[in-house]
Amino acid sequence: MRNISVSDYRKKAQKKIPHFLFEYIDGGSVSESTLRANRRDLDQVSLRQSVLKDVSNINTELELFGTTYSMPVILAPVGIAGLNARRGEVQAAKAAEDNNVPFTMSTVSLCSIEEVSGSVVKPPWFQLYMAKDRQFLKDLLKRVKKTGCEVLLVTVDLPVVGTRYRDVRSGLTRCNGIWCKLWRLLQILARPSWVWDVGVMGGPHNLGNLVPLMGSDAGLKDFLVWTDENFDPSATWDDISFIRENWSGKIILKGLLDPQDASQALKIGVDGIVVSNHGGRQLDGAPSSARALPAIADRVAGAIPILVDGGVSSGTDIIRMQALGADAVLIGRAWVYALAAHGQTGVNELLRLLREELRIAMALTGHTAPNTIDRKTLVDKF
Ligand code: FNR
Repeated sequence: MRNISVSDYRKKAQKKIPHFLFEYIDGGSVSESTLRANRRDLDQVSLRQSVLKDVSNINTELELFGTTYSMPVILAPVGIAGLNARRGEVQAAKAAEDNNVPFTMSTVSLCSIEEVSGSVVKPPWFQLYMAKDRQFLKDLLKRVKKTGCEVLLVTVDLPVVGTRYRDVRSGLTRCNGIWCKLWRLLQILARPSWVWDVGVMGGPHNLGNLVPLMGSDAGLKDFLVWTDENFDPSATWDDISFIRENWSGKIILKGLLDPQDASQALKIGVDGIVVSNHGGRQLDGAPSSARALPAIADRVAGAIPILVDGGVSSGTDIIRMQALGADAVLIGRAWVYALAAHGQTGVNELLRLLREELRIAMALTGHTAPNTIDRKTLVDKF
């Protein structure tokens, strides 16, 4: 069957990767109400159809931080995404480059920043978690800068890891007893092609960026322990100055939902923000990104680029987010499903599909360039 939507890739991913890995990607926190709201609220954004405009020449390009990209879409940072296909982050970064959109590497990637940037022409964007060990952060930022990376996303919505029931139920976390370990092994054995592609051919299976901290034999278990123990819950706005002192490129704060926080971000001089609830994986009960976006745009639009993520899975969703006030969107699960389903080819196909859908959505709403899309593109005030 051909893949024509994100849900097709999702179904294929479910069949290809072990159950616990699929649940890790697919799930959210607690009752997953925010995860569902991300999708539900986007569905409720009605777009104004506009007819008899000349839409024969549509330009989906967007200039961001001095670079022109083919469309306003960025691959979001996703931890251990590299486990979904052999050297997964490298494959995704290549697909992003083929489509001229940015790829963002998570701090907790399987491949190191050096491996990924060495496999593409333009270095990827990098996402940073506030780790307790400031010397480690300094060294990591130096490594990232050395690759030529210019854009740093600093994730601020994860002082502690959200409660994720699915990860416990699937045996990914808190898996200490023999029965749980056996259950996890059975899940792995049920996916022989993944065992071959990732398990046998896809090593090393450590966390490339954290090797100096954790050693080269740290694996999945260590990743979970590291995230639990090393994110810095004491981080405050002052710590962003620490990053500024150690990073000369662009700084984008990722994980804002509140207009006051957005104003504060502007005040301290960051170069952009991502309106995000971490894909519904952190504070369950937080508003959807689509719901939070307009009030934030009211405060900072025009001053700094506003990026947004959460539930985006079609070209129509991209235009919805733009109409609500975003300059560009990030996609998280969508690209990881495509990677798990068909590797680099899958991510390539997905990006082509999104661009084509965006082009169609622009034509049907009467827009020929992204900069004319605004709240007038909406039928109702959202
Ligand atoms: C994430 N996200 C994330 N964000 C981040 O800043 N660093 C990270 O390492 C991760 N890891 C991660 C793992 C998984 C499995 C998911 C699904 C998400 C959040 C991600 O960057 C983005 O904000 C959301 O995924 C956006 O929502 P959608 O597009 O997945 O609905």
